[in-house]
Amino acid sequence: MIAAAGSPPARPWVVAHRGASAHAPENTIPAFTLAAEQGATFVELDVQRTKDGALVLLHDLTLERTTDIAQVFPDRAREVMVKGEARRQWPLADFTLAEVRRLDAGRWFDARFAGTRVPTLAETIAAVRGRIGLYIELKAPERYPGIEAEILAALTAAGLDQPYADPRTPVVLQSFTVGSLKILARDLRSTLPIHLLFGPADAARWTSAAGLAEARTFATGLSPDKQVLRADPGLAARAHALGMPVTPYTFRASAVGTYADVGAEMRAALAAGADGVITDNPDQAPRR
Ligand code: G3P
Ligand code: CA
Repeated sequence: MIAAAGSPPARPWVVAHRGASAHAPENTIPAFTLAAEQGATFVELDVQRTKDGALVLLHDLTLERTTDIAQVFPDRAREVMVKGEARRQWPLADFTLAEVRRLDAGRWFDARFAGTRVPTLAETIAAVRGRIGLYIELKAPERYPGIEAEILAALTAAGLDQPYADPRTPVVLQSFTVGSLKILARDLRSTLPIHLLFGPADAARWTSAAGLAEARTFATGLSPDKQVLRADPGLAARAHALGMPVTPYTFRASAVGTYADVGAEMRAALAAGADGVITDNPDQAPRR
């Protein structure tokens, strides 16, 4: 059942991480479409900016893992040292939208997806609107000054800038970058749901009573690493006491630890109080 306008979707929230990324190339329209077909509540996606200011979806800061840029622009690499090894990298920020459009973002995953392009945020919104929600991660926003306002402008243009304005396309914003969340909540006064992403290294800071109270001043919810919740089963209850939903990341069939399968791992997180799960495998998530 679809929630009423202004109300959050029914729990558990199944958040398809970079789309249904176990079965389709991450951060692409086919991965988002498949997530909708699999009944996920939201697609999670990573927003960054091209050299000429277009908002596009990409997880890494560089293009070589998920596109054919090494073949298309072989002379545009930067030579960098990574852990003492020389590497060639193609940073997104060095390329215009027209150049990024030439890249194949699907063949690396499977030949069936050859020809898939890196999508813009606007075309993604248009493609999924009315079918599934958006969990929008501001990826490394400190590298893209002003990106918070640009993302909100894209949502405003789509009529999605108010909380749960379209019950078929609920919107949550999230980032690991606290400064960016403060820009959204305080400077830009966004009333959209805003989640703080954090991993085990920052768990002590954000899960104490003082840390949760501080987080609540700029975020409405938490998206911790799943290991944080597993190590601290009382976290969800403490967050709920402040009105903050908890959606841990990332559940994937390829890394289930001691659980029998990813479905069992997700069920355990929900039993510990999680409001949803961020997963590469929305097809295996528990349903309402
Ligand atoms: O949504 C949580 C998750 O996406 C954060 O990690 O590295 O996959 O963006 P990452
Ligand atoms: Ca992400």
